[in-house]
Amino acid sequence: MTYPDGAVSVVIFGASGDLTGRKLVPAFYNLYRKERLPETFNIVGVARTKFTHEQFREQMRKAVADFSRDTFSADAWETFAQHIWYSPGDASLLGELEATNRFLADYEQPETNRLYYLSVAPQLYAPIIHNLGQLGMAKEETAWRRIVIEKPFGTDLKSAHELNDVVHSVFEENQVYRIDHYLGKETAQNILFLRFANTIFEPIWNRNYVDNVQITVAESVDVGHRANYYDQAGVLRDMFQNHLLQLLALVAMEPPASFNATALRNEKVKVFTAIRPVDIRDTVRAQYTGYLEANGVAPGSETPTYAALKLFVDDWRWQGVPFYLRSGKAMRTKTSQIRVRFRRPPQVMFNLPKDETFAPNTLTICIQPDEGIHLNFEAKLPDSSHETRSVDMEFTYKKAFGECEIPEAYERLLLEALQGDPSLFTRSDEIEAMWNIIDPIIRGWAAPGAPPVATYEPGTWGPTEAESLLARDGHVWRLGCNSA
Ligand code: BG6
Repeated sequence: MTYPDGAVSVVIFGASGDLTGRKLVPAFYNLYRKERLPETFNIVGVARTKFTHEQFREQMRKAVADFSRDTFSADAWETFAQHIWYSPGDASLLGELEATNRFLADYEQPETNRLYYLSVAPQLYAPIIHNLGQLGMAKEETAWRRIVIEKPFGTDLKSAHELNDVVHSVFEENQVYRIDHYLGKETAQNILFLRFANTIFEPIWNRNYVDNVQITVAESVDVGHRANYYDQAGVLRDMFQNHLLQLLALVAMEPPASFNATALRNEKVKVFTAIRPVDIRDTVRAQYTGYLEANGVAPGSETPTYAALKLFVDDWRWQGVPFYLRSGKAMRTKTSQIRVRFRRPPQVMFNLPKDETFAPNTLTICIQPDEGIHLNFEAKLPDSSHETRSVDMEFTYKKAFGECEIPEAYERLLLEALQGDPSLFTRSDEIEAMWNIIDPIIRGWAAPGAPPVATYEPGTWGPTEAESLLARDGHVWRLGCNSA
């Protein structure tokens, strides 16, 4: 593996926010401990709060101790902390960003690279990017300049397109890293390795052998303290437009000719553009009981905290194969998994009891927790003449890789951004293609005659309407990982 060389300043806008302490600085700290950061690197936090360097470092120390518990070492922290700085200011105001720029320029060399990280409220993306342009902070004369942009990227196709225009008025697309942290998850990255580093799966990975695909991303937490944001967004914008559609693309895409960002992202865009416009009858939206009482939720809000969709990818490989997607808050347990269900054998030659048939083979990719892959198939029950049982052939990261820890998604993503590989980030056309799938559903739900918002009890698997969506096709939602 090559690690980034050359001096780099990482400039985090929104440094006093949650993400910086929970994810970003712990990820940099772990990269530092693994000696994956360049020798000369500095992290500069920017936010309106008037911290001193010392106060900011102390905040970050606490955050790393809390969120990176296993790896926290006071000694390592001491040396790491010497790379952390703070520049107070509101980057959406030109004069204040200029002060940050001067602060950076004071210690940087002409060849110092910069990674800007936008971890601010989405309405500040455009003004900050604009100001970076005004101050020439995106120009790559003697060193590279890259920008990482957090989600949400727009709230619909139009706003995403407008934001892309703003971004492109200052940065070239190859300088831009739109984050979807699901792509940084080890198990999500492994989908392409499962499919394309092996020969046994790909020949059956199509409509001739696959009956349907289910993608479940369930969360046990409710909206918590994020109701202000969430009530505006809802589950489709929060989870489907990005994470679930990205997982679908990894399962459905054609093999790229090579493992590079352009080829990979071209194939994903082809999947998104091949998704058939969703029939509103193939959608379910629901809200958990008690959501309306959360602080920040508008009275009578119809924002869905759960959705289930049936999608079709209209290409040769997947014609007619339903992809069922579901995600929700306040569900029974936290689990993300992809279940590929294969067709049944064409003929049953064994003497099964009347009306009985074999359980279909399934391959379940466990994204989290209990990371692994399970293959279910039929085996003869010992000491019987005809009886079969479904058995599980499992691969778990724990058993296969032992102590080798699974890194946090942000670690991988930040490292890739520093290395200049955007494969695990979303390209502008990809983002827009995903909104193009989601927008009509949101509009459909707002139109007269739309299916009403169903309800479900916290701690369950969602509304009965979602069961009916599959029952119509003779299916049920199933889970194949241990956590289920
Ligand atoms: C975020 C959503 O993108 O993903 C959150 O905004 C959600 O609402 C989170 O909780 C889930 O991520 P993970 O990694 O915990 O599955």
